[in-house]
Amino acid sequence: MITLAVETSCDETALAIYSDKEGIIGEVLLSQAKVHEQFGGVVPELSAREHTKNLLPLLKVLLDRTGFDLKRVDFISFTLTPGLILSLVVGVSFAKALAYTLKKPLVPVHHLEGHIYSVFVERPIEEPFLALVVSGGHTDLYLVEGFGKYRFLGGTLDDAVGESYDKVARLMGLGYPGGPIIDRLARQGEPKYPLPRPMIDDPSLNMSFSGLKTAVRKIVEGGNYSKEDLSASFQRAVLDVLEAKLLKAVELTGVKRVAVVGGVSANSELRERFQKLTEKGIISAYIPHPRLSTDNAVMIAYAGIERFKRGITAPEDINPEPNIPLETFGRYWS
Ligand code: KG4
Ligand code: ZN
Repeated sequence: MITLAVETSCDETALAIYSDKEGIIGEVLLSQAKVHEQFGGVVPELSAREHTKNLLPLLKVLLDRTGFDLKRVDFISFTLTPGLILSLVVGVSFAKALAYTLKKPLVPVHHLEGHIYSVFVERPIEEPFLALVVSGGHTDLYLVEGFGKYRFLGGTLDDAVGESYDKVARLMGLGYPGGPIIDRLARQGEPKYPLPRPMIDDPSLNMSFSGLKTAVRKIVEGGNYSKEDLSASFQRAVLDVLEAKLLKAVELTGVKRVAVVGGVSANSELRERFQKLTEKGIISAYIPHPRLSTDNAVMIAYAGIERFKRGITAPEDINPEPNIPLETFGRYWS
């Protein structure tokens, strides 16, 4: 079973050809980071235009590189939700055009389901497992009881972690996306600044990161600060909160296997910390390769295959949505 997957939910234009037997046949990914850098964040209209400009040339590159005959594709997988609506519209329209031309079915995928199952591209996790989704748009904890069966346990009440990385980087004038830059600077600094750990003692699994950003702003506005030390302090505070909430989720559910996914899971300190917890036997962390952590089409292909195996296809008039909750998407069209 072979699928071609289309991912355009944010600022990465990505395509992948994936087989359930052979794994990745080919993938292409074009980041728009340079386009959005001057604005300190993603500009939705520009993002949609870049997807429109680049999808077809990227498909040609993918086919040239792999020598793959598109007729071998069994169905087209695509990200339906969540994401920037204009960007999703471009990807969904492209997927529909391909499906029509090739006379193949369309399979809708939830972007977060793609992130959660990105781990499975490398090695499967026994279900049930916990999923900590940390990306630019989401910071959520789920209990995954099986493919398509997701129980929301808690999440951020305001900024997503990736979003706060990007905002803090902007405050310090570091560029976009902020996550990898802060990650690098933090390694050269010391976590010297006392920053809050919002909601860390709250008994719920909810989180909040906007207060942390405000605390960083005050230090930046005070002038004369070390970017390296402030990066290290910010990152330490974020990771303290994520670790505390994850451990609380493990305690509440009794489930120790954890998929840590989404762009922020590419963070080097996060990976080291969760690796140490795994070595101590406190959790069993599954973190995808950084290339699979940030947005990509391979994860959409993987989830698409799982959906198709369950008989899920999309009607021809399907329309993207900016935010269908993952929990309800599990039951969509099944
Ligand atoms: O999953 P993703 O590629 O896109 C969304 O679905 O949002 O996540 C993007 C986010 C950005 O906010 C980016 O700054 C963050 O992931 N990110 C990182 C790192 N690499 C990317 N955050 C912290 N450390 C990193 N190394
Ligand atoms: Zn994502």
